[in-house]
Amino acid sequence: MKATAEAHPNIAFIKYWGNRNQILRIPANGSLSMNLDSLFTRTTVTFDPNLTTDGLRLNHVPAGGSALSRVSDLLERVRRLANIDTRAEVISENNFPTGSGIASSASAFAALALAASAAAGLNLSEKQLSILARTGSGSAARSVPGGFVEWKPGNSHSSSYAYSIAPPEHWDLADLIAVVSTEHKVTGSTSGHAIADSSPLQAARVDDAPRRLAACRQALLDRDFEKFAEVVELDSNIMHAVMQTSTPPLIYWQPATIAVMHAVRAWRKAGLPVCYTIDAGPNVHILTLKPEHSKVKRLLQEIPGVQDILRAFPGGPAKLIYQEALNV
Ligand code: DP6
Repeated sequence: MKATAEAHPNIAFIKYWGNRNQILRIPANGSLSMNLDSLFTRTTVTFDPNLTTDGLRLNHVPAGGSALSRVSDLLERVRRLANIDTRAEVISENNFPTGSGIASSASAFAALALAASAAAGLNLSEKQLSILARTGSGSAARSVPGGFVEWKPGNSHSSSYAYSIAPPEHWDLADLIAVVSTEHKVTGSTSGHAIADSSPLQAARVDDAPRRLAACRQALLDRDFEKFAEVVELDSNIMHAVMQTSTPPLIYWQPATIAVMHAVRAWRKAGLPVCYTIDAGPNVHILTLKPEHSKVKRLLQEIPGVQDILRAFPGGPAKLIYQEALNV
């Protein structure tokens, strides 16, 4: 009982920050994202009757502690669904740096949900997989479907899932990720979500989220970069305002993060289709149109503190790449 799956991370244009239900990861607001084609997590799950506990290898290193218990919790859900009791070995690899604002937990739990359910002999629908992945990491719900994806917040376990609103070919966007630090972030997203409500700004952020989401969805469907850029930067800024005013405050930006934000705004003012968005880390995602991406990359390379630039275009759904034949 073995299966391998691959999933892409995603970049949120409208962010998920804060939960209505922290255990089930029912989010405070809906969110919208794009899968990143050149980045992926590949995960193999083997249910083995000889094992007495679940095991995890992350990027070739055995992992324990909270990483293993998060994985084990998801495996437990799969065991309950498949009505089995067998422990599993999980081997997971990313082709990009972990824990630095490039959402490795999204691709990790989307790939795990698909590989584990297939290895257990389940044939889950995209919606069921999105729900399962969400319980491991909220943003993983959005890495199950392909292309441009919306996560409907819902108000219960079964009503909170993500679906595609447009395929990858819909819009030739590019995401250039300006890496300004590859150090592991100090406060992970899970702890951040838990203190979101301690900011006096979170209620206003959540109240206005449906408006921002509708504006972003429309700009995306119309391929209107100017409107898209405005709402994407607003949404990122408002999330960081909440982070920075939480107790304790979470300040993810480094000096180079701010240098990139200023440069991007100046380039847009000068006529380039470009905008920024930043997750729970110091690295900056610079969104532009594919024909402009080489030029934007050259400009980014000149900013002091930018160590590396990763590039991605809209990516497809999580996919199964190997499944051991059952009953043989
Ligand atoms: C800032 O999905 O990483 O990237 O559910 O605790 O794993 P957990 O949180 P996670 O949060 C993502 C936060 C974000 C914004 C986003 O991707 O929407």
